[in-house]
Amino acid sequence: MIYSRIAGTGSYLPPRVMTNHDFAARGLDTSDQWIRERTGIVQRHIADESQASSDLALEASRRALQAAGVQAADLDLIVVATSTPDFIFPSTACLLQAKLGVKGCAAFDVQAVCSGFVYALATADSFLKNNMAKKALVVGAEVFSRILDWNDRGTCVLFGDGAGAVVLTAGSTPGIHASVLHADGSQVDMLSVPGNVCKGRITGSPFLQMNGQGVFKYAVRVLDEVGRETVAKAGMSLADIDWLIPHQANVRILDATARRLGLPAEKLVVTVDHHGNTSAASVPLALDEFVRAGKIRAGHRVLMQGVGGGFTWGATLATL
Ligand code: ACO
Repeated sequence: MIYSRIAGTGSYLPPRVMTNHDFAARGLDTSDQWIRERTGIVQRHIADESQASSDLALEASRRALQAAGVQAADLDLIVVATSTPDFIFPSTACLLQAKLGVKGCAAFDVQAVCSGFVYALATADSFLKNNMAKKALVVGAEVFSRILDWNDRGTCVLFGDGAGAVVLTAGSTPGIHASVLHADGSQVDMLSVPGNVCKGRITGSPFLQMNGQGVFKYAVRVLDEVGRETVAKAGMSLADIDWLIPHQANVRILDATARRLGLPAEKLVVTVDHHGNTSAASVPLALDEFVRAGKIRAGHRVLMQGVGGGFTWGATLATL
C-alpha cells in the first residue's frame, strides 16, 4: 500500500497589514469592536497590486520545498487551490510551475473556494496512492482583496490575502489516513461572486456576496458532520486528534465547531484573528504557522477542514 505524507510546509503573507481601525479611517461605517466581537478578526494582510496569487504561491512553495528537502525539479504534480487565479487561463498552477523554473510535471488548479485546499490535498493524495505521482506540491493561494466591494461592510472586513503550501511524498506509512469531500450546488446563492468576463466586459457582479447568517449555520453543521465522518473513515476516534484546523472563517465558527466535536480549546488552531479569512490559503497558512512555532510536531494527528462557496466542504486527517 502506498500512502502520502506531508514532508514540509510553507506559507507567505504579503507585508502590508490592514487593521480593523483602518476601515473606519477609510470612512466605512464599522468599528474595531464590532469586527472583533462578531468575527474575532483583528487584522489581515493585503497583497500589493503587483502581486498575483502565483506570486504568493511561489514564496509559500519555496518555503515548503525547503522544509521538505525536495527540489522543484523532482516534483511530478503541482495542484493549486484558488478562487482568485491570475488569469482565466492558463492555470495558476502552470504559472507557478514556470516561476519555480521547472517544466514537465502535471499542474492544474482546483476551484472549491474555501474548501479548495482540502479538495486539492485529497486530489494529490489520490495521485500518490495510485502511483500517478511520487512528490506533489499542494498550494492554497488567494488575493481575495481583489473580489471584495470595499464599501460593503458586511463582507470586506472578513477577508485577507495569503498562501500556504505543503509537499506530499509517497511512502509506506500514513501520512494521510482519510479524506472526505462533499458539495451541494443548490446553495449557490448563499456565497458567490456571480460574475464573468464576456465579450470584453464584466457580466454580473465581480464582487463577493454572502448570506452571513446562512453561511454561519451551514458551516458549523457541516464541519461537525464531516469531521466525524473523516475520523470514522480513518478508523479512529475524536480523542485521537491532536489538532483541529478548521477553515479560518470566523472565531465563533471555529469555537462552535470544536465544541460540537467535543475537542478542547487547546487543540483548536486559530489564526483568523491575524490572517482574516484567506479562503483556500487559510488551512495551510495555519498549519505552517503552528509547525514553525513547534506546536504541531512530527507524529501529531491533525484534522484539517474546509467549507466554502459551492457549497463545498471536506476534511483530511493526517499524521505529520
Ligand atoms: N460593522 C458594523 N456593522 C455591521 C458590519 C460591520 N462590518 N457588518 C454588518 N453590520 C451590521 C448589519 O448592517 C446589521 O445592521 P442592522 O441591524 O442595522 O441591519 C447588523 O450589523 C447585524 O448584521 P448581521 O448580518 O445580522 O450580523 P451577524 O451577527 O450575522 O454577523 C457576520 C455578520 C460576521 C458576517 C456573521 O454572519 C458571520 O460571521 N457569518 C459567517 C460568514 C463567513 O464567515 N463568511 C466567510 C466566507 S464563507 C466561509 O469562509 C465558509
